[in-house]
Amino acid sequence: MESDLNKMLEHYYEMDGNIISILQDMEETFGFIPEDAVNWFSHRLSIPAARFFGTATFYGQFHLTKQGKHIIKVCRGTACHVKGSQKISDDIQREFSIGVGQTTKDELFTLEHVACVGACSVAPVTLVGKEVNGKVKSSAILKKIKQLREV
Ligand code: FES
Repeated sequence: MESDLNKMLEHYYEMDGNIISILQDMEETFGFIPEDAVNWFSHRLSIPAARFFGTATFYGQFHLTKQGKHIIKVCRGTACHVKGSQKISDDIQREFSIGVGQTTKDELFTLEHVACVGACSVAPVTLVGKEVNGKVKSSAILKKIKQLREV
């Protein structure tokens, strides 16, 4: 009996592995996980769409909405919170008329909140793409983001 259970377990590991691989392909191809693409795979592989979405929402690497060209990340860890990161996030949201996890209509910017990025000594920290900006003020980060519009 145990060998049967192990077979079943292996099968489910494989299925999850497949789902993750498919999701990674979608993310790489489309920049997010389109519902239509999930339904397409769900139908062909007879895997409920809910399993794809359940996996996609479990892992932070997957996005369910289209991402902007530039990803703006505001650290919301404790040190950054104490140093005013909520105000920075609020100012970005107000300036670009987006909420956290949303993308501007021109698809240039997506705002995300992240947990501690390991640069607490220079809190508050904001990432613009891969560039880490420490001890930032709203005015400086807004200026930097607006400059990206002109590039
Ligand atoms: S809390 Fe923001 S870098 Fe650590």
